Amino acid sequence: MSYRIETAKKFRGRWRASGDKSITHRAFLFNALAEGEALIKGANGGEDCTRSRELVLELGAVVEPVKGEKGSWRIEGRAGRFVEPEGPVDAGNSGTTMRLASGLVAAQPFAVKLTGDESLERRPMERIAKPLTALGAEVTLGHDGTAPITIRGGALQGAEYESGVASAQVKTAFLLAALQATGESRFREPRLSRDHSERLLERMGATLARDEEGALTLSGPQPLRAVNVSVPGDLSSASFLIAAGLTVEGGNVLVKNLGVNPTRTGFLDVIERMGGRYALYHPREEAGEPVADLLAQYSKLQATEVGPEELPRLVDEIPILAALAARAGGVSRFRGLAELRVKESDRLTLSAELVNAFGGRAWVEDDDLLVEGGRSLKGCAFESRGDHRIAMTAAVLALSCGGTTVVGDTDCVATSFPEFPSLMRRFSAGAFSQESGE
Ligand code: S3P
Repeated sequence: MSYRIETAKKFRGRWRASGDKSITHRAFLFNALAEGEALIKGANGGEDCTRSRELVLELGAVVEPVKGEKGSWRIEGRAGRFVEPEGPVDAGNSGTTMRLASGLVAAQPFAVKLTGDESLERRPMERIAKPLTALGAEVTLGHDGTAPITIRGGALQGAEYESGVASAQVKTAFLLAALQATGESRFREPRLSRDHSERLLERMGATLARDEEGALTLSGPQPLRAVNVSVPGDLSSASFLIAAGLTVEGGNVLVKNLGVNPTRTGFLDVIERMGGRYALYHPREEAGEPVADLLAQYSKLQATEVGPEELPRLVDEIPILAALAARAGGVSRFRGLAELRVKESDRLTLSAELVNAFGGRAWVEDDDLLVEGGRSLKGCAFESRGDHRIAMTAAVLALSCGGTTVVGDTDCVATSFPEFPSLMRRFSAGAFSQESGE
């Protein structure tokens, strides 16, 4: 599939945000390990979360759709004892499935082999192997420390681990294994990564503490009890439509039920600094997570600087922020983006290429991305290289450029945000369309 985008004369609409991808993965994986039965409502319907749902089925959990309620699932956990899968389990494009599942199965008395697609099998997995090995699991990786990953579980012992990266995937893999280990465990990361796991595990009855150094400590083994999860909307997905609302003249976008967990809202802080007009309404809590409604409106933007300390709170929003920087007055600098090189694609390089393809000016200096805004941008032909967030960024930037854009290789968008094309068509009053074939 490709997208064809003309200059948009408007971008207006309201929608209930699609379910958060990170929280949906956790709702399936954690409840599968827990004891009892739970309902998951408003689950993200993308392919990545489907991989996690299918994985727990292979591990023996019962997962059934609730009739007549899209995004609702009933799940029955395994109370800590999974069934050995019949063969390798395919995590598809989903790094979250692969890394979280590694921790989930690390204490089981059998081996689980996890495979992925071409992109996932290029991504680093030593970051998972090391903490799980510290707890006593046996982990085998493919060449170069990448997937496939085989975890031979067994009786684990609590351990201390200091992660070199601020990664919620690494933290969660460690926590899931440590909860099944005997004794004390302690986990440190250089900066706080998203804390959805800590919030959900605590709701499931786990006792976790943060010591004076900010490290997480826990004592295992601890059983989990299944809990209902009403999944808040995904800010990472919504950021594309918010960005379109900010950049198309007269833009006006209302997002209902948006997750605004402070470990995820770096994007909102940055657009505020850039002069983006948005407001949050009706702050409330849903499944232990902060939620609000958000209204964004067309704004004149100015350049900004984003430092490495902010990265964990906006790690998936750099491509769309780069597109906003291309629309802002002045030169923006995003510092310390090494982690972006090992996402679904090398997003640091591709973000710069994307801006340049539209006639903008962006370049990479070491691990920094620089974007000179304010240039006149023109529609172009652009290939996503199989990265969903790159494809959506190009589609959004195209709306406010002169001429026609064709974005190729867009099937990947279904991994995280299958509703994106229909929302884009509706909000832009037809400036966006889909074409089959490349
Ligand atoms: C995720 C954590 C982030 C993020 C990914 C989802 C999660 O990765 O990029 O899209 O659900 O834990 P890292 O934790 O590796 O930075």
